[in-house]
Amino acid sequence: MKEKINTIKQKSIEEIENVSDLKSLEDIKIKYLGKKGELTAVLRGMKDLSADERPIIGSLVNEVRDTLEEIIEQKEQQFKREELNQRLQKEKIDITLPSNKLKRGSIHPLNRVIEDIEDLFVSMGYDVVEGPELETDEYCFERLNLPKGHPARDMQDSFYITDKYLLRTQTSSVQARTMVANEEKSPIRIITVGKTYRREDDATHSHQFNQIEGLVIDKKERNVSLADLKGTLEVFVRKIIGANLDLRFRPSYFPFTEPSYEVDVTCFKCGGKGCNLCKQTGWIEVLGSGMVHPNVLKINGYDPEKYRGFAFGTGIDRLAMFRYGITDMRYLYANDVRFLNQFDRKDEE
Ligand code: DAH
Repeated sequence: MKEKINTIKQKSIEEIENVSDLKSLEDIKIKYLGKKGELTAVLRGMKDLSADERPIIGSLVNEVRDTLEEIIEQKEQQFKREELNQRLQKEKIDITLPSNKLKRGSIHPLNRVIEDIEDLFVSMGYDVVEGPELETDEYCFERLNLPKGHPARDMQDSFYITDKYLLRTQTSSVQARTMVANEEKSPIRIITVGKTYRREDDATHSHQFNQIEGLVIDKKERNVSLADLKGTLEVFVRKIIGANLDLRFRPSYFPFTEPSYEVDVTCFKCGGKGCNLCKQTGWIEVLGSGMVHPNVLKINGYDPEKYRGFAFGTGIDRLAMFRYGITDMRYLYANDVRFLNQFDRKDEE
């Protein structure tokens, strides 16, 4: 019996030493240690041995099994290492090759400005509302104190669809819509942002552009005043365009406000010294504003004796141009990725 076990030991060790791949090693393992393996067969035959022999043979078989398992394991590791090394040799990666660059989009500069404006006004308690781009003459002009034939209509060359409908020339139409919709006459504090259309097209004007409009109305005793308007616009300009800018209120004319003001800010190109951008004045006009005209209140269902408010409006495209130093408004609409890519994370830089 002992001899048989020793022969198995010698034979199997020899085979393991000479094995050349993992698969054959596995076969040898099964051949000796498997359920029907040679060494297992010896264990099975132990029942025929005498009680004296049994523990001696048993421990010998166990010893041989342990030895075999150990050298098989070593051999296995060796094969695996060799295989890995071969693969590493074969699958060398050339890290100097150009990679497939991950293409990442960026938020359009206009939308960045719009989001910032909305965030700012929401933080001051305003609602953000919307109005239609295809507007009626009534809401675009008449309800804003611009009756048919009013000369101020000439300031806004319009795209009429029919006699009644046009593409809105200003978001001021949403002022009228908000007032008319507010039947209970609760305090109004809204901004609206959206597309507007006029028949013009050059480096600083596009036939389609974007405006923001703000409207605040409250009972007279709440004293909504020019001071509130001024404070609001100061915050707006300094947060959205530049923290160090000064503001100048210049008397002006709009049919829907009285008194009316245009708001100028320090020229951000020359800092107020005078340059080609500000036409040597040191100031750049950015906003229209004023106290809501009594006629506008009346036409839209408010008693001018009881209510008061202010309004303001401006083109967002121009704000984006100022903020990012864009020289031609048409870049904003050309969808040229070379232009748009420049705004990838621009504000975080
Ligand atoms: N709607 C005017 C425009 O497009 C801008 C404007 C001026 C809006 C004065 C206002 C305002 O709300 O009070 O030129």
